[in-house]
This record gives sequence, C-alpha cells and structure tokens, in this order.
Amino acid sequence: MTTLLTGIGLLATQDDEFGERGEIAGAALVLDGDAVAWVGRAAEAPDADERIDLGGRAVLPGFVDSHAHLVFAGDRAGEFAARMAGVPYAAGGIRTTVAATRAASVDELRANLARLAGELLRAGVTTFETKSGYGLDTATEQRSLRIAAELTPETTYLGAHVVPQGTDRDAYVELVCGDMLAACAPHARWVDAFCDDGAFDADESRQVLRAGMAAGLEPRLHAGQLSAGPGVALAVELGAASADHCTHLSPGDVDALAGSPTVATLLPLVEFSTRSPYPPARRLLDAGATVALATDCNPGSGYSTSMPLAIALAVREMHLTPAEAVRAATAGGAAALRRPDVGSLQVGARADLVVLDAPSYVHLAYRPGVPLVGQVWKGGKRVV
Ligand code: NIG
Ligand code: FE
Repeated sequence: MTTLLTGIGLLATQDDEFGERGEIAGAALVLDGDAVAWVGRAAEAPDADERIDLGGRAVLPGFVDSHAHLVFAGDRAGEFAARMAGVPYAAGGIRTTVAATRAASVDELRANLARLAGELLRAGVTTFETKSGYGLDTATEQRSLRIAAELTPETTYLGAHVVPQGTDRDAYVELVCGDMLAACAPHARWVDAFCDDGAFDADESRQVLRAGMAAGLEPRLHAGQLSAGPGVALAVELGAASADHCTHLSPGDVDALAGSPTVATLLPLVEFSTRSPYPPARRLLDAGATVALATDCNPGSGYSTSMPLAIALAVREMHLTPAEAVRAATAGGAAALRRPDVGSLQVGARADLVVLDAPSYVHLAYRPGVPLVGQVWKGGKRVV
C-alpha cells in the first residue's frame, strides 16, 4: 500500500541531498508501508494507491527525543513552586521521586509512562528514549526498565542517578556495577550516570559506564548540568553516544565535543524550569559539534513533554536558527541514539513525520506555546 502526501508547503527533510537545509518547497512524499519511498517536488511525484493533499502545510520528520526520565510515580510540584520562590535545584530531590516510585505498583508506573508517551506523541515525538534511575535498588531498577522496554527500544540503565539515602557510596557503586547491572542489562540498550555535583564523580561514573559497556550496553552521560565538571571529558574519553545537559562547559569541553562523534544533547526545558543559564549552543555549533535537543521530561528538573517548546527556547534563548533547532530535534536526536533510520525523511527512512498546522517549521518558534502539531504519522500510519 503506497500513500502520496502532496500539497506540502515546505518539507524539511534533514537530508543534505536537498541543499544545506534539506528543504523542498511545494513538495510531496510517497510512503510505502512503514518506510519513505519517494521524496521530491509535487509536480514530479509518482502515482500511489492513495493520495492526501496537505493543503500547504509544513512537514518535518517526527521528533526524536533522545533524553527523558518517564518511569516514576508522583510529582514534585511543591519543589517547583519553592524553586520559583528562590530555592535552587539540587540533585537530592531525586530521592523524593525514588520513594514514590518504589511504593508504586507496576500498573501505576505503566499507566504514568503511557500517559507521558501519549503526550510526547501528540507533541510530534515519534521516537523516545527513557531511563530507569528512580528505583536505586535492583528490583525497582529492573522493573522500571522492563516497563520502559514495553514502549521503546531506547531504554537506559541509570542506576547511578544518586546514592540512595542511608547507603554507603562505595557499596552502592559496587551494586550498580554488579548485581543491579546484571539484572538490568537484559532490558536496556544504554548505560548512563549522573556525573555532577551531589551525584557521582568522574571515577565513579567511569567505573559504572565501563561496567555497563562490558555487559554490552552503549554509553551516554549526564554531564555539565550543575557545574562544568569532568563529565564531558569523560563522555568523549569513553566514546559515549552523547553528553547530555552541557549547561556549563569549559572551553576545552567545547573543543572536545567538536572534535569527537559524541553528540552534545541540550535540554532547554530544564534551564527554563530550574531558572538556570542556557547552554552555550552557539559556541558548540560554531565549533562544529553535533547538537541534539531533547525534553528531559522528569518530575524534578523539568516536567514538560513539549519538543515544540524546547525548539522555541533553543531559538529564543540559545540563538539557534529555526532550521538548526528543528535539525537538532530530529536528526540530532537520531545521532544521539545512533539511529540512522529516524530523524530524516529520505528514501528508506522510517515513515515517521509531523504535519504542522502552519506553512513552515519557523512557526514552531515564531508561535511559542501554540499547538501546531496537526498530524503525526508513525511507521507510515497516521496516529494523531
Ligand atoms: O536530567 N540530572 C539528573 N537527572 C534529571 C533530574 C532528575 C530529578 O530531579 O528528578 C535531569 O535533570
Ligand atoms: Fe536527565
């Protein structure tokens, strides 16, 4: 079954074959099953079994959210309100969510994850990653990853989120690298650690990532959220797919990211929700680093599933062009997840796409907060 989507006002393919910005005005797409079969100008489009006229709307690849923490219970609205009144964000708040998550049933965790995955989809996200990290004991970490793996292949073992209350640090790191890892590795693709103030230092994070890699997981790292610590250098040293947050970077960090395949994943909804300075995105792009934008949706540092708002913040606050921001939220996220099949609309890619109720993707930043995601197609089927 083939479907011709025509009448596309502006198609942002993210494929350099169509020029530096990968854009086609007056475009069409043919979908064949779950894949893209043809891309080009509407006037040249081949026939298909079914034809849908999009009336001049803009089309872009489905967003790829490469960083989220969606398996948890409860919320921290009180902590947010206190923060807005001046209390600074700190890693220790994670322990509040750990207590609620341990007390929740599998069905409660599953329902909360499904609710957030639904929000992501309606916001145009067709691929998402999610982590454990609110269990911090073997049973709850494993349970979290099992539930996550029901909805996405991009699951990340984050036993090294913080040291749980009343636990000896060294004993906990040993557990994360030992029995907990053995229980979690079958349900995870990635291993991560929170390498930052109040969480884990470079040696501990290296130990955790190396153990995960030895168990067959691929590394990514929370780095530079609370201070310009050793995280980015460690991510590059270990060949991590991504260094995430990058709120605080030393000049050496920018050079290291620019000179390596490690993607700099930026999470501006966190800076918004913690009232922190935004990451130096312009410096990263100008130096030649690959940049991804992700939501980091979690109950503590930023409880939003809105990739469109992340794009608007990247443009308004971080000085990306609208084209750069959309690229970071699509192809950038795909690079951060090492997923060549998503994040761009080229022949053979997954037919995951967003139709905006607007003539151009620029409107995502130009009309912040407006629900412009009109349709979402996933695997060749319209799902929103
Ligand atoms: O990515 N930085 C570490 N983890 C989350 C926040 C977790 C929380 O506060 O609950 C983050 O911001
Ligand atoms: Fe995070």
